[in-house]
Amino acid sequence: MTKFGLSYDDILLIPKYSDVISRSHIDLKTRITKNFKIKLPIISANMDTITEFEMANKLYEFGGLGIIHRFCSIDEEVEIIKKLSEKGNKILAASIGVSGEYKNRLEALVDAGANIICIDIAHGHHKLMAETIRYCKQYKVDIIAGNIATSDAAKFLCENKVDAVKVGIGPGSICTTRINTGFGVPQITAIENVYEVTKKFDVPIIADGGIKNSGDVAKALALGAESVMIGALFSGCKETPGTIHKEGNFPNYRLYKQYRGSASLESKFERGEKEKNIEGVSTTINYKGPVKYVVKNIEDGLRSAFSYAGAKNISEYCKSVKYIQNIEI
Ligand code: IMP
Repeated sequence: MTKFGLSYDDILLIPKYSDVISRSHIDLKTRITKNFKIKLPIISANMDTITEFEMANKLYEFGGLGIIHRFCSIDEEVEIIKKLSEKGNKILAASIGVSGEYKNRLEALVDAGANIICIDIAHGHHKLMAETIRYCKQYKVDIIAGNIATSDAAKFLCENKVDAVKVGIGPGSICTTRINTGFGVPQITAIENVYEVTKKFDVPIIADGGIKNSGDVAKALALGAESVMIGALFSGCKETPGTIHKEGNFPNYRLYKQYRGSASLESKFERGEKEKNIEGVSTTINYKGPVKYVVKNIEDGLRSAFSYAGAKNISEYCKSVKYIQNIEI
């Protein structure tokens, strides 16, 4: 493990000889989990201001995926999964926690047709995580588990036979974990740490949090992630839950939507939870319009990245790209 940590902005990818004639020849197909593939390596975050029916349905149409959040009643989460299924979505991914009513939630989601269960907690290298994975194993679903940032945690999850790991402790744009607790691992280093182990178990990595542009997606995939999870970049889009607010009057007005951390004060207050262990913030984001423009932007950037790497698909890309540190030490 490196003695210093690297974030997305600390590295640049090194160009390589390329025989890619057209960017349209590049195949961006990837694995989300051991048994499920998507056409674009993009997953929308399982947060209550990012992914419900509209976002998941739209991303699936574009070849990506939305994972439904768990910060609602069991019935509400189940209804969203059923609606996605009725619309013809074949990959149905939903979240659960590791305490409270998680067993009832799991059973109801599986009954509704969910085929990927994301066990999502702030610190995935935890005893309760192992117990929950074991409990989930009785159902025929793929399991995503996270979040983690170390090789020890990766070994722990892989030995518990998960089908994908979610990597990211502290990189999220609305995250205050590093500020409030002092814990975290810069995301490039976190992906590297985890990949050292997951490659031996052949378990895909989802790089979660801190993605600011398509270049960051290209970096995550180059380091061994097979997909990325995105919150901020999709926030403010038409398909996110919540209303569009207006501030000011014509012609000096602004349209915006709310984006908030799942562990923010606002989020916990609305859920009626105790207002403690706050590790996120709430913010407003200028309205961005349909998510298709953001997705197109990422896809275009990735196709260009692959051409700089001389790679026609994800496995060629991931195996071949090297990086250089973008910092002076
Ligand atoms: P973003 O794309 O940089 O905005 O990061 C989104 C990711 O931040 C999510 O997928 C979660 O992993 C993480 N996250 C969401 N809510 C919180 C929070 O309240 N505290 C810390 N991390 C959070």
